[in-house]
Amino acid sequence: MQFDEVVTTTGAVREFEARPVPDSQVYELLDLARFAPSGGNRQGWRVVVVKGTELRIRLRELYVEAWAEYMAHVEAGLVPFAPLNGRRWTGPAVDLDAAAKRRYEYPFSDHLDEVPVMLAVFVKLGSLAVLDNGLDRQSIVGGGSIYPFVHNIMLAARSRGLGGVMTTAICRREPQVAALMGMPEEYALASLVALGWPKRTPSRLRRDPVEKFTTVDTFEGDPFRP
Ligand SMILES: Cc1cc2nc3c(=O)[nH]c(=O)nc-3n(C[C@H](O)[C@H](O)[C@H](O)COP(=O)(O)O)c2cc1C
Repeated sequence: MQFDEVVTTTGAVREFEARPVPDSQVYELLDLARFAPSGGNRQGWRVVVVKGTELRIRLRELYVEAWAEYMAHVEAGLVPFAPLNGRRWTGPAVDLDAAAKRRYEYPFSDHLDEVPVMLAVFVKLGSLAVLDNGLDRQSIVGGGSIYPFVHNIMLAARSRGLGGVMTTAICRREPQVAALMGMPEEYALASLVALGWPKRTPSRLRRDPVEKFTTVDTFEGDPFRP
């Protein structure tokens, strides 16, 4: 598959065929993803392939709780956990305890333990050169040293006819995940990735055109066009 096709068709896939994905293929995806950039080339990623049935069920339970917290925001018309005031998260905008107890039926989260491949992606905090630390706003730079790696997994999967989704909802339950999976203190959970053979091939992705998000010189500048 050509690069352009891979990039423009790597959409979120949340429904998979029952067909298993061989470990050799998962290894191949990671073997491609490892060429991702990271600040100072420190490659702070750490991947755990989640195979154990009990562990998967426990992770699904945690994900479902976190997903409910997410959906409670969506229902209230809010961007979940967004840094409000434009700069920082100032605390829950909805009642999180009440939200976590609610059920939001969603086939993906309700059957998360059954996905063909489950990867937990962690990052070593001490490997992150977080150049926007100390600014009076939500820090963003650190993620740049791990999510290119995660997206490379998605791109590599797509190029081989596989599909999946990068998820972060469960990061709300990082302490519980850490306890379950033996995550050392100096690490953080970046993503839980689900992969498999898509039930449906991703169709056209809905994305804004370049002119909508690119201007010349200033935010108010002319839209950038060739
Ligand atoms: C940083 C990040 C976090 C995400 N977290 C979740 C998640 O927790 N659960 C989920 O189902 N999808 C998650 N997604 C997938 C997005 O919902 C998806 O990429 C977006 O809706 C675009 O979908 P499309 O590529 O199919 O158009 C996440 C994506 C990114 C990039």
